[in-house]
Amino acid sequence: MDLVKVEVLFDRATLKEKVAELGKQISRDYQGRELLVVGILKGAFVFMADLIREMNVPVELDFMDVSSYGLSTSSSGEVRIVKDLEYSIKDRDVLIVEDIVDTGLTLKYISEVLKNRNPRSIKIACLLDKPSRRKADIYPDYVGYSIPDKFVVGYGLDYAEQYRHYPAVCVLKPAVYEN
Ligand code: IMP
Ligand code: MG
Repeated sequence: MDLVKVEVLFDRATLKEKVAELGKQISRDYQGRELLVVGILKGAFVFMADLIREMNVPVELDFMDVSSYGLSTSSSGEVRIVKDLEYSIKDRDVLIVEDIVDTGLTLKYISEVLKNRNPRSIKIACLLDKPSRRKADIYPDYVGYSIPDKFVVGYGLDYAEQYRHYPAVCVLKPAVYEN
């Protein structure tokens, strides 16, 4: 890892433990049911891949991609579906999996769109939450860590499409995006 640019916040072993805990909790809550796990691309894919392997209820997967920040580090509030789900979610138990909830505007939009398709239930799991930045009334049901208002990368999260492959969640040093 390029330690000049980042500081480790949660290392690989710490994340593994937390994700296992979330997987257990979700499995308990959905005992006897079948889950449709909806990953929000691209950021959620690493977390989702680890999370589903910690779950012991029947799971099906689907993905959605929405327009994101581009090169900036703050939300425009404008959301657009770039790739929609493949399957119908009518009468399904849906679990949206997201990397991080920041302003909440993205998830607000997505959950409203999905609720209109009449799922049986809909819940949100996110690895990271920045509650101090919230602009929309979004309350994730499963949260790995609440973090302060710092820009983080790794474990799927990017800055300008970089750093997604870092195994740890790291704080990006502001010098990287301030010039
Ligand atoms: P929101 O609409 O402001 O909640 O934005 C959520 C999306 O912004 C997430 O799915 C991420 O893709 C991106 N995002 C927000 N904060 C960060 C961060 O600290 N690092 C990387 N991506 C972030
Ligand atoms: Mg994202």
